[in-house]
Amino acid sequence: MITRTQVAIIGGGPAGLLLSHMLDLDGIDTVVLERQSRAHVLRRIRAGVLEAGTIDLLRAAGLGERMDREGHPHDGSAIAWEGRPRFFIDTKKFTGKAMMAYGQTAITEDLYAARDRAGGEIIDEAVNVELHELTSARPYVTYEKEGQSRRIDCDYIAGCDGYHGVSRQSIPASVLRTYEKGYPFGWLGIMSQTPPFPDLCYCYHSRGFALASMRSPMLSRYYIQCELDTRLEDWPDERFWQEFKARCPQEMAAKIVTGPSIEKSIAPLRSFVAEPMRYGRLFLAGDAAHIVPPTGAKGLNLAVSDVFYLSRALAQAYKTPRLGRRAPVVVVDHAAAPVSRRDAVRPARAREPIRLSARFGARAGVTGRAICRLAFRDVIETAHF
Ligand code: FAD
Ligand code: DHB
Repeated sequence: MITRTQVAIIGGGPAGLLLSHMLDLDGIDTVVLERQSRAHVLRRIRAGVLEAGTIDLLRAAGLGERMDREGHPHDGSAIAWEGRPRFFIDTKKFTGKAMMAYGQTAITEDLYAARDRAGGEIIDEAVNVELHELTSARPYVTYEKEGQSRRIDCDYIAGCDGYHGVSRQSIPASVLRTYEKGYPFGWLGIMSQTPPFPDLCYCYHSRGFALASMRSPMLSRYYIQCELDTRLEDWPDERFWQEFKARCPQEMAAKIVTGPSIEKSIAPLRSFVAEPMRYGRLFLAGDAAHIVPPTGAKGLNLAVSDVFYLSRALAQAYKTPRLGRRAPVVVVDHAAAPVSRRDAVRPARAREPIRLSARFGARAGVTGRAICRLAFRDVIETAHF
């Protein structure tokens, strides 16, 4: 079976779904291919802290309603050094920007809901995905679903399939450069249905690092640094709480509300960058191109930043027939994206404001004259990553 779309998106995580949503707002047709079932994707517990640029972008794309209702804004975070009082870093005061605690799981739910409402095509449990003819003007993707071989012809392919995905591996080894650092420890994390500690708090301790985080007023996320060979079965909840409390200041430990974990996992810590992020008609975005260890709460925010720039470049390519025949030029924000400067080309016109299409405005809840006033530059100004 052969079908056709404009942009084939590999990976139905936050990067792939957001790209599909944003391209749809610009009238660009996509098909998302996801290896796992939707239930599996929605079970994954990952990021939880959104930066100002991500918050602004989700709102501008019409995805902010539930986030603003259920998310937990934060003006900053605290650090605690063994034996010393906690110290609060007031990011809002010093940068004017607040963060939001809102889980990646909830964002993914919101994105699936938005794609379903718009009739978007997301094919889950797509196995053996392969990318073909990337340097031609007619790339295509093959995969298997329910034992049947299928093919999608397209103009562009977006590789949003995370660190273990197939997209990056489709770039020839002679072209791909990777830089990697593994750390000799991991994070053991738990989620519990308990009221969180009020501030995000990063704790240094000679027993190891610990972090108190949150997802909602009744959902807490805690991490402790652990050995790489740690086994979950050796860490019953009781032991976790005891160790967590031992690593934070006493006055903080006294306020931690404990309870049964609803999820427990170990994340190895790794830094990884691949370049180029573009090969012919293939564009990488998110964890497919770079991994930031969870310490910085950066990975999801960086994925959103990639998607923002990629979606604008693709929209521009389709709006500019001359460009549309060629692969688009992606403007990379080097302050955010860890890629080589040589691979980013900034055409003279790219900095000019571009009107948001009426379609984007209408779907994002912006109508009438407001659309005309909302230029691309305005979005850039609010989407600082
Ligand atoms: P992914 O979420 O990995 O999605 C990729 C998708 O592609 C997956 O659904 C996968 O099933 C699918 N896929 C893979 N291979 C294939 C294939 N061959 N064919 C089809 N589909 C495929 N970031 C933050 O910004 N803030 C935080 O607070 C934060 N905390 C974190 C805490 C932990 C414990 C961890 C592990 C990560 C954290 N991150 C955080 C990082 C963040 O979760 C990732 O950066 C984010 O998930 C990247 O999104 P993505 O869509 O690029 O990749
Ligand atoms: C999470 C929060 C953080 O501040 C961080 O640095 C890493 C992860 C979290 O809530 O998952």
